[in-house]
Amino acid sequence: MAKKGKKKKNLFLLADILLAVILIVVGVIIINPFKSDNKAKDKEEVKGTDENQNEGKDKEIVKEKTEEEIKLEKLNNINEKLDFFKMENLDRYIAYKEKNPNLDDETVVVYVNIGLDQEFYTNRKDSPFKDTNKVITNKFYFLGENYVPKDLVKISSANSARELYLQKDAAEAFERMANDAKKEGYTIRAVSTYRSYSYQQGLYNNYVNQDGKAAADTYSARAGYSEHQTGLAADIDNANLSYTSFGLSKEFNWMQENCYKYGFILRYTKANEFITGYKDEPWHYRYVGVEIATYIKEHPMTYEEYFVRFLDK
Ligand code: DAL
Ligand code: ZN
Repeated sequence: MAKKGKKKKNLFLLADILLAVILIVVGVIIINPFKSDNKAKDKEEVKGTDENQNEGKDKEIVKEKTEEEIKLEKLNNINEKLDFFKMENLDRYIAYKEKNPNLDDETVVVYVNIGLDQEFYTNRKDSPFKDTNKVITNKFYFLGENYVPKDLVKISSANSARELYLQKDAAEAFERMANDAKKEGYTIRAVSTYRSYSYQQGLYNNYVNQDGKAAADTYSARAGYSEHQTGLAADIDNANLSYTSFGLSKEFNWMQENCYKYGFILRYTKANEFITGYKDEPWHYRYVGVEIATYIKEHPMTYEEYFVRFLDK
């Protein structure tokens, strides 16, 4: 009887253990996934936080781009079409366009690159391409007090009013042009060519004393800013009329038709006063070489515009 009771107790104990084991197993099964769910949730939250942070960063980048994009859109994304568009001038383009709403976007870019949004003589830069036919000098580009072109040669007395010099290539082209014109019955004569810095200084000062600074600036370059200092510019007459009346001569028409063939361009025209800052000068020709002169003949523009479009990169 005692043995039977002990056996029964043992059975109960076994059943209890089994139940405990079952409960533990069930517990593990139920609880563990729950735990891993939580882990997953935690991960999601962490991931979510990361994503939020990234999203924030992305938003920041997008915001920066958008500001630039908005500005570029104001210019109808003309930057995609123009290889001379300068991102550093973006704000200047927009300001210039706002002041000049009738200009197309390409013209705005060209004019700002020339510097026309700034006062003449206020932002002086060094003239690039010195000692080449590409050099530019105007009310923005300064040649310097000490600049003297290399290879100055004398123009023959047959084609000049006095002892005058031009840079070698320009001189040779000028002689050929004047000689060819003569064969056709036209007189092309140099009256002023290379002028040193100090000569130009004296000339400009005389004009200022005579007419005042504002007036002098409309027809004379300040020292260091004259094309005559490059040795590539020639003022001409027909040995009959004063050079200031050259525009009335048949020689002027001949020059209009032919000077590009020798590499010369008419530099200051009435239509371009606002770009060059000078009144028209039918007598002032600039040697730029045949290639550039031909392009400008075929696509009329100032040398400033040519420079900005093709050389100022
Ligand atoms: N007359 C021109 C602009 C000069 O002085 O160079
Ligand atoms: Zn001149």
